[in-house]
Amino acid sequence: TESDTAFKITRKTDITPAAEREAMLANPGFGRVFTDHMAVVTYTEGKGWHSAEILPRQPLMLDPAASVLHYAQEIFEGMKAYRTPDGSVQLFRPDANARRFRHSAERMAMAQVPEYLFLDAVTQLVKLDKDWVPKPEVGTLYIRPFMIATEAALGVKPASEFKFIVIACAAGEYFSKDAGPVSVWVEERTVRASRGGTGTAKCGGNYAASLTAQMEGKEHGCHQVLFLDAQERRWLEEMGGMNVMMVFEDGTLQTPPLDSGTILHGITRDSLLTLARDRGLKVKEERYAIDQLYGDADSGKLKEVFACGTAAVVTPIGTFKSTEGGCTIGSGQTGEVTSSLRKALCDIQFGRAADTHGWVKKI
Ligand code: COI
Repeated sequence: TESDTAFKITRKTDITPAAEREAMLANPGFGRVFTDHMAVVTYTEGKGWHSAEILPRQPLMLDPAASVLHYAQEIFEGMKAYRTPDGSVQLFRPDANARRFRHSAERMAMAQVPEYLFLDAVTQLVKLDKDWVPKPEVGTLYIRPFMIATEAALGVKPASEFKFIVIACAAGEYFSKDAGPVSVWVEERTVRASRGGTGTAKCGGNYAASLTAQMEGKEHGCHQVLFLDAQERRWLEEMGGMNVMMVFEDGTLQTPPLDSGTILHGITRDSLLTLARDRGLKVKEERYAIDQLYGDADSGKLKEVFACGTAAVVTPIGTFKSTEGGCTIGSGQTGEVTSSLRKALCDIQFGRAADTHGWVKKI
């Protein structure tokens, strides 16, 4: 049936011993400690999705002419599984990831993964590897669904064969640094997305294109980059792998609007806007210029800035740096609104607070 895809499950025979797994989970960092299994589903034109499998995590066999390797027909998602106080495991808004995956697939001319199949693959993998979900004090299980074009054909055309794959890894803090605000490089040379481009699709190319800026930022001692709009190089868009939000002295929460078609529709972004509205904060989805940011930081009107995303959760930004200088936000320390929104979100995700929006899905 639609809600119960027949995944053929092949368990790994030599699964990671519990003691070894626990040792790896004690301090996992981000994206390096992977679980024992993966989900793979194949698409063939004319046949649709078939051969759904959960199998031991292993290298892929790809024809060297596979379209993904040449024309980057690739999309991905980022989502997490959380361990709750009673030890059970839950997902946060997985339906939103499934929907965004469909949007990304459409933009990249790829096959559509039906929502039930996306959710089934994620759920079955997390069920099988649930011992890999870290303790809440340590972090979460980061789930990475992705799709690649596997057809062996060098003609530039949409592929007729795809693989939809789900892997998962333990995730501690995304930023490898001591707690506290990060510094952000304001990128003036390259852009992340332009109108009509692929900015709203979660495709690998967007992230590859962000790396030179990320490197430049790192040379200047920054943890992340902030991209400006392609046309005027003036309006804040988003960061290397997360959205950006501002808090003003009158309590307004502001973030760049989605109508430019250049900004990723962040699920954390949307959740935080909802939580802010719930508590009566004024919420503005309006564009904001970088020169205004410098001015408002100096005048004290701009109180807090933070990055938000599935991987980054809510990460305070203490300073901005650019070729011309930069600015410090507030005292450079974590702001009150930032930390209370972070807490409100995490309390729901980890099952410590009531889920009044129906966001949480038990595994
Ligand atoms: C996420 O927050 O899940 C992201 O996709 C950001 C980055 C790890 C690519």
